[in-house]
Amino acid sequence: MSDWTPQSWRSRPIRQQPKYRDPAAVRAALARVAALPPLVAHGEVDTLRAHLALAARGEAFVLHGGDCAERFLDCAQGPIEAKLKILLQMSLVLTWGARLPIIRVARMAGQYAKPRSSDTEIIDGVELPSYRGDHVNDSAATPEAREPDPERLVSAYFHSAATLNYARALLDGGFADLHKPHHWQLGFVRRVDHRKEYEEVVARLLDAIDFVESTGVETHAFDTVELFSSHEGLLLPWEEAQTVHAGEGWYNLGAHMLWIGDRTRALDGAHVEYFRGIENPIGVKIGPSTDPAELVKLLEVLEPDDRPGRVTLITRLGAGRVAEALPPIVEAVRASGRTVVWSCDPMHGNTTKTAGGVKTREVARILTELRETFDAHDRLGSVLGGVHFELTGEDVTECTGGPQELSESDLLHAYETLCDPRLNYAQSLEMAFLLAQRLAKRRA
Ligand code: PEP
Ligand code: CO
Repeated sequence: MSDWTPQSWRSRPIRQQPKYRDPAAVRAALARVAALPPLVAHGEVDTLRAHLALAARGEAFVLHGGDCAERFLDCAQGPIEAKLKILLQMSLVLTWGARLPIIRVARMAGQYAKPRSSDTEIIDGVELPSYRGDHVNDSAATPEAREPDPERLVSAYFHSAATLNYARALLDGGFADLHKPHHWQLGFVRRVDHRKEYEEVVARLLDAIDFVESTGVETHAFDTVELFSSHEGLLLPWEEAQTVHAGEGWYNLGAHMLWIGDRTRALDGAHVEYFRGIENPIGVKIGPSTDPAELVKLLEVLEPDDRPGRVTLITRLGAGRVAEALPPIVEAVRASGRTVVWSCDPMHGNTTKTAGGVKTREVARILTELRETFDAHDRLGSVLGGVHFELTGEDVTECTGGPQELSESDLLHAYETLCDPRLNYAQSLEMAFLLAQRLAKRRA
């Protein structure tokens, strides 16, 4: 790794970066970020990598989820509590089904920058620079708002810090809400038979927790819950500013885990160059355009030592395409002898637009991709070690279907996302019940 530095990505072609008018202001903002304390500790990053090594062997399961684009205004008590609650509830349900430790990784406390398919968009007949996330510009549809603002680089740091601080406080404080049945809102499930089934699972699960606690045996299993932070490592100048030497190597201490998006995983590109040098566990999004042979080269570049837990491959192929596209990818990685965590993002291959132009996803298609991915791994003898969702703990209406049977006309009631449509509380919780069933079957 002698030729790698936190800046070495700067000599490579780079995609998906904003164009700032005032480079000096950018440099000043980044210097301020670099001088501020890290958001996470390198020992925590190592812990996550060790946990992920278990997931690679099928001895743990990863629940990775949160907003597509986190907004600065989501850095508030209600949204943080709601997100933590849904992630913890889902993870309890998954533990119940899988009988495995669940590794919780939140798309949170830094998921502020977005890759876009086009540099500009047309709104009401006017061409504007695309919204690239609160990290870069404002979503309001005016040219001024869309101008990349260097001050947001500093702001992103403070919003990440405040979010992480409150999440850590809630977890340290026990976040005991999970124990009480009335905090599990199952009234949304329209089908009575399903609702009954879920209520029964929750009752048994809470009873099991109650039993363990009442034995008086010292168990910290429920009062300290680990949660790791993550975001797409997109804005490399910002990621560079968070990169510090610690322990044996270079860590990005802005988050525990970072991933490379499907649009920025070019072998000779700046993102791959940056990611190869950090110790953090990293994800790589694997879309339908992935060439298996090139993927193997990518793994060699990103993780020459093949340390288990360092690389998670997050497939997002789209419902109906998995049976054909996934096997060559898994076979190529297997033939290379490399160890990865296989995860499935059933969201990004299943985005559609309604006739009215609203970006949405159908819960049924999300479930289909998940089912197809489990099936494919079962056939191939590999293990699906985790899932990656865009979700929120709030009652939004962005994806159709699910237990509330939301239709396209329901979407306008509470459509809040500034980027991709997320599963709401009900849809997420049901996803956990269905996943738990599948994991229980795999165990049997
Ligand atoms: C995302 O995770 O929000 C994203 C943009 O994903 P992908 O890179 O897989 O398209
Ligand atoms: Co997204």
